This record gives sequence, structure tokens and C-alpha cells, in this order.
Amino acid sequence: MKNAVETHYTCPELGVKIRQGLEKAGKNTEQIPLRDLAPVDQLHTGGAPATHELMEHAGLDKGMTILDAGCGIGGTSRLLAQNCDLIVHGIDLSEDFIETATMLNQWCGFTKDSTINFKQGSVLTLPYPDHFFDAVLCQHVLLNIKNKPKAFAEFSRVLTPQGKLILHEILDGPGPNPLYPVPWAGNAAASMLCSRQNIEAYADKAGFELVFSEDKTKSAALWWEKINAIKKSRGTSPLNPSLVFGKNAGRFGANMEQNFKAQAILCMEKIWIKSNFN
Ligand SMILES: C[S@@+](CC[C@H](N)C(=O)[O-])C[C@H]1O[C@@H](n2cnc3c(N)ncnc32)[C@H](O)[C@@H]1O
Repeated sequence: MKNAVETHYTCPELGVKIRQGLEKAGKNTEQIPLRDLAPVDQLHTGGAPATHELMEHAGLDKGMTILDAGCGIGGTSRLLAQNCDLIVHGIDLSEDFIETATMLNQWCGFTKDSTINFKQGSVLTLPYPDHFFDAVLCQHVLLNIKNKPKAFAEFSRVLTPQGKLILHEILDGPGPNPLYPVPWAGNAAASMLCSRQNIEAYADKAGFELVFSEDKTKSAALWWEKINAIKKSRGTSPLNPSLVFGKNAGRFGANMEQNFKAQAILCMEKIWIKSNFN
């Protein structure tokens, strides 16, 4: 039986829905440029530009091996492979998402022996050997995970000594209780946000040394404000998050803008180096 998180991210026939959305939007469905998928395959605040900016701070060398932990339908994995020349492994709990990620790769022209490898599984029991990755990128995933110390322990295990853990995460803020639904949870009981102090303590305990930290809450609020303004002026595009999340998605924009503006939630970027290892 599926747990609550798996149920939240269950979306049968997602590939078919995305193809229909692309057709309705008048986009090419043969060789899809990555930017055309951005409205549905970037399942985090700030979209692709936020990931690019964070990766610049991480300063990884071309050819390095990275884990996209909780890769969703693979939008970030494709950017990391195509724009950063990294060897990418993407893992996600959702079977539907991994099936869709694999399908989208083919449609975007990534071949089977390309530098992206998707697997269904949990970040709490990563199916990779010790010291396998130069970096782990985790974007908006810990917000679904209760046992965060276990996730940090697994990230540490699979990283090489001096490997980098790159986090882009939503955290509990000092403001009022968040409004729901939001993209990761339909209600408060399903949301696993934690405080900034706790996330730092978990990383510290797992042997990570913090080398970069930026509070992106203000730019996150502006990003959602912009998304909401575009939707208001142009209407909803056929390619939109409701293909992934169903009708709840119609309320995400207003709730997320309000949540960030009231600091009910925070958007944080952090990079750690694995410095204390066996
Ligand atoms: C908000 S989405 C973000 C997806 C992706 N990182 C992105 O930014 O496009 C959260 C993702 O985390 C995945 N997830 C949640 N818990 C997980 C776990 N224990 N192991 C692996 N993936 C998990 C979900 O299936 C979902 O795809």
C-alpha cells in the first residue's frame, strides 16, 4: 500500500497529459527543448534559474557525478546533464514520476546510454554504494520527509570525502501557520517542514560543514507574485502544474505568494562539504 507522500505524487498517464498539453500549447512534441517543459518539470520555487544560480555557487567540475535526490519528473536532472555537463543519477519515491522522467528524456533527445540514470527509490535507503557521488542536490524534498537525520546520514554515506551537499529547501518560518494546499502537501498534517536551526543541526551531526547559506524568501515571494500576474493576464496555459497535481494546483500560486510574504515559510539555499567522515 502507498504511503501519504507516494499518494500525493501519484499521477498515472502523466506523460500522455504532458504531450497533450504541449500539443495544445502549439509546441513541438518531437524534439522538445528543455525550456518548453519548465512549466511542469521544475517542481520547485524559482524554477530552472534558481537551480542554475545555486549550481554556480556549488562550482562543480564538468564530468562530476551528482545525485538529484527526489528528482521528480527529471527537470533538474536534464538541466544538470545538458547545461552543467554532469553525470546525473536521479532517484524519486514516485513510480509515476520516474516513468515520466524516463519518457521525457527520450522526447528531449537523451538516449538510453546518456549521462542520466533514473531509479525509483527512497532517499532514506539510497541504492548506491558508499562514496559514489561528488555531489548531492536536494531541492524541495526534505519538506516531505519526517526522518531528516536518516536522509542526511544517507547523503553523507554516498558522498565522496569533501563531496558537496547542495540544498534548496522550504523551511518553517516565524510567521503564521502556512496556508494549504501547497505543491508538497494538501494539508498541514502531510507537511514535514522543519526550522532552519534544526536543518543545520541535522547536517552538523551528519558531519557536514556549512560553506554557503542564503535566505531566498524574498525572491521566492516575488517569483510567485510574477507567476500569479502572468496567469492573471494570459490565463492558464495548457501546460501547467495541474497536469501533475490535479485541481489543487489552482490554489498553489496564491497560497505560496502569501506564505512567503508572511514568512509562514522560508526558502533557503545551503551548501555543505562532507568534512567529518570515516
Ligand atoms: C516538490 S517535489 C520536487 C521534485 C524535484 N526535486 C524538483 O525540484 O523538480 C518533491 C519530490 O520529492 C519526492 N520524494 C518525497 N519523499 C521522498 C523520498 N523519501 N525519497 C525519494 N523521493 C522523495 C517526491 O516523490 C517528489 O517528486
